[in-house]
Amino acid sequence: MSEIAQLSPGPRQRHGSSIGQPLTRADGRLKVTGEAIYAADNHPDGLLHAVIVPAKIARGRVVSLDLDAARAHQGVVEIMTPENRPPLAMDPFEKSNPLMFRMHLLSDATVRYAGEPVAVVIAETLEAAKEGAALLAPRYEAETPEVTLDAAAYTPETVGPGQPAEAAKGDVDAGFAAAAQVIEAVYETPPQYHNAMEPHAVVARFDGDSLFLDMPTQGLAMSRMRLAGLFGLTPDNIHIRSPFLGGGFGSKGAVSSPEALGILAAKLTGRPVKLVLAREEMFGPVGHRGQTRQTLRLGLDAAGALTALTHHTRASTSRFDEFIEPSSGVGQSLYKVPALHTAHEGVRLDIGTPSFMRAPGEASGSIALESAIDEAAFAAGMDPLAFRLENYAEVEPISGKPFSSKALKQCYTKAAERFGWAGRPLRSRQMRDEAGRLLGWGMGTAIFPALMFQGNARAVIRRDGTGVMEAGAHDMGQGAWTALAQIAADSLGLTIETLDFRSGTSDLPDAGIAGGSTHTATAGNAIHRAGTAAIDKLTALAVNDESSPLFGAGNVGVVASEGRLTRRDDETASESFADILTRAGLEEIAADGQAAADPSAQEAYAMHAHGAVFAEVAVDPELGQIRVTRLIGAFAAGRVINPRMVESQYLGGMIWGLSFALHEKAVHDRRSGRIVNANFAEYRVPVNADIQGLEAILVPEEDPHVNPLGIKGVGEIGITGTAAAIANAIFHATGKRVRSFPIGLAEVL
Ligand code: MOS
Repeated sequence: MSEIAQLSPGPRQRHGSSIGQPLTRADGRLKVTGEAIYAADNHPDGLLHAVIVPAKIARGRVVSLDLDAARAHQGVVEIMTPENRPPLAMDPFEKSNPLMFRMHLLSDATVRYAGEPVAVVIAETLEAAKEGAALLAPRYEAETPEVTLDAAAYTPETVGPGQPAEAAKGDVDAGFAAAAQVIEAVYETPPQYHNAMEPHAVVARFDGDSLFLDMPTQGLAMSRMRLAGLFGLTPDNIHIRSPFLGGGFGSKGAVSSPEALGILAAKLTGRPVKLVLAREEMFGPVGHRGQTRQTLRLGLDAAGALTALTHHTRASTSRFDEFIEPSSGVGQSLYKVPALHTAHEGVRLDIGTPSFMRAPGEASGSIALESAIDEAAFAAGMDPLAFRLENYAEVEPISGKPFSSKALKQCYTKAAERFGWAGRPLRSRQMRDEAGRLLGWGMGTAIFPALMFQGNARAVIRRDGTGVMEAGAHDMGQGAWTALAQIAADSLGLTIETLDFRSGTSDLPDAGIAGGSTHTATAGNAIHRAGTAAIDKLTALAVNDESSPLFGAGNVGVVASEGRLTRRDDETASESFADILTRAGLEEIAADGQAAADPSAQEAYAMHAHGAVFAEVAVDPELGQIRVTRLIGAFAAGRVINPRMVESQYLGGMIWGLSFALHEKAVHDRRSGRIVNANFAEYRVPVNADIQGLEAILVPEEDPHVNPLGIKGVGEIGITGTAAAIANAIFHATGKRVRSFPIGLAEVL
């Protein structure tokens, strides 16, 4: 067992004093009053404004820019093109790990996707920069782009962030041969674009060899390393502030070309520069969820047990980099099946590179898998929940490993009871509401791996009885300022009011990236370890000091709470942190903590969060209008640090699942390759009026293996299972099995 795995939540802290409390957001007031300073709110002296000039073709080259007209415009300071883009210390096309993206930072006149920046205009005001950009009036030599999955495919070596493209277990052919029936279906999911409320932004300022950045990022340390490489700076000389993100959803993990161009503009002009993407500029250079075409085959025996499962995905990537939406993986861990095969193929298109987008792979993959499971249940004449229970996996199918914990049955039960699933008619078109609308009930299973990265934190206990916890964590809206502070307070035996929680800048210890639903586990366990280590030092001071009431108590005999150490066996023997430090003549005591996944636990167990989502839809039989009238999910994800934040994550995920089912789709014009709905009017996302009857149930789950605090991630699981639950409800309502997403009213008429 590794050293880290031996860390336990420990008998010395009274857990639950902060952890588990439904505290409201520490940063909530700042946000609703407009006092929270986001990156684009910074205005250093001498600030210039930069805008990118996005390509209006998807393939070809820029043949002319009217530089004279743009330069002549009042307020325009500089125009950055391939001719004068400052040199970089490394080719931005190079990539040394799968979390980086290849970039072309004005390297040449080639256009690789619609929206690719072809120039940057820098001016004294935003208005002048925009006008200058318009005056550039690029002319192009355009070629016919490929933007659909019908183009030629190839077999990639890896998918997503370096996962194997193919996996197999058992004899699939034998499984299908033994089947009483085989269900085969093809599902399509569209390109989706991250549309965080806050677009990508950077305010960049050089001071000698130092670079100061206000830039929202899900990975402070990772961004710093990337920029250090590009600009030839030492990482310590790059200072990134990212206290708040107005959403990230994966697209603010890796540095993308607009941020790098903003920094290059500061270098070119020698002045601070702000570059903020306009909404339509978000569609191209900052990643997206690639479109997929997924083929599912399920073999069933006469009793409805799965005999074989294959899941093959064709997904898009760009011409110049590779990120294949890893949709086929989701079935490897979900249902008991003796034989399975999952594989992917890629199609190179004239598009910006796809990237991580909330539950990359699981979100799109669970749509296909959970729809196919519904089709199989229907074919077997079974209730969809009974079918899932018949095929419930007690060990992980692909690996044969036991689960570190799996409260999926409890999720099924709780959500089904709350929903009133019992008595659901098996056939479709059996229920109507008072208005005569067709009602349908559907369900889907949610699953997401419980991952962890490496993170660090530093704890300080001060003589005045207060404490400090430093962790360069990221709050993209999920509540890190709150939940991580709760862990910090408990680890230090302090109340949250006496703790100074510092986060959100690259100058603090690297607390790991906020991605993969790992952040609370990674940063939280690092924080826990730092706090525990500081308390250990303080305890050693007290128990070894004859003048302390704790003398001789020994490490295991002391509890830290509310700024005091107290003998476990004698509540009257107690001393404040302040008294211990004062007597020792110390101003403060500090300790570092580090956390990472424990390889031996990972070797022994399969680790996933689970959930079940039930949906009710009402479909107008004449108009085809689809309304989700109820959406109830129950999720089990280990220890809950803050139930209010966790519930919010589940609700947000489920709303995105609804969006996936019914709303979101980027539409490419096939001739130009441009996205014709790159705006909030036509790239539809749900609004309040689309959301009714939404509930998330938190199912208790203790996981002794996943990490010392028993935390699984909650950020992404809510989007999995949900879209299929809605599609399955639409089938139940209408008898129409729609396999192309989003589902529109034309498809159900
Ligand atoms: Mo997430 S797509 O891992 O930010």
